[in-house]
Amino acid sequence: MNLIAGNWKMNKTSDEAKAFVAELIPLIRKAKCEVALCVPFTCIDGVSKAIKGSKIKLGAQNIAWADHGAFTGEVSGAMLAEFGVEYVIVGHSERRQMFGETNETVNKRLKAAFKSGLKPILCVGESNETRMAGITREFIGGQLRNALEDIPAEDVLKLTIAYEPIWAIGTGLTATPEQAESTAKSIRRTLTGLYDSKISAKIRILYGGSMNAGNASALLAQNNIKGGLIGGASLKAADFASIINYDKN
Ligand code: PGA
Repeated sequence: MNLIAGNWKMNKTSDEAKAFVAELIPLIRKAKCEVALCVPFTCIDGVSKAIKGSKIKLGAQNIAWADHGAFTGEVSGAMLAEFGVEYVIVGHSERRQMFGETNETVNKRLKAAFKSGLKPILCVGESNETRMAGITREFIGGQLRNALEDIPAEDVLKLTIAYEPIWAIGTGLTATPEQAESTAKSIRRTLTGLYDSKISAKIRILYGGSMNAGNASALLAQNNIKGGLIGGASLKAADFASIINYDKN
């Protein structure tokens, strides 16, 4: 089943988050896809209560690699799981670019997510320079190989990968459906090399980067794109609902 996940980034207070959920629930009653909201840590408690009885699943935007201890500013998997968090974004390009996230820390965070029973959404994607240099496939292949080091098949089956070209995030530029599909296929080839073709075929790949109600159906019509990670267009309930309801599975 496709997954439409909102990534709110650093937006919304807890009160605003609860009001959003109350507005969204009636708009997505007929949705055929899975729906998740990856919210700021401070919204997790409020949203976990507000979504009870609805089809919305709860997600976080980061996870510590350690269980507990002297890690100022970090939040552990157990702390997230306590509130019913199911999904967690790992390795978003904003974290890689602004907060020193590396493939190595991404790998550690993925392992922590699996250990806590959470389902990570691993973000990969190339910059404009990398695309212009014609090395997108190699670059993303490297991100995946490093991020998935020593992660066994039984865990990787619970992984979702979000292909998010950096040049498309928050810019209004979107990968064409053909670009998104061809990169998703190259991701599957890398996964086949790391695991096998059966496992590769089962891993869900999302597209992210200026996805909106206008372009979602063409992107979601691609064989290897099984949903979206939505930033800007997930901040208003009506906008997010129209993407969710575009999803035809
Ligand atoms: P955007 O963000 O939809 O605002 O481009 C997507 C993301 O960064 O996950």
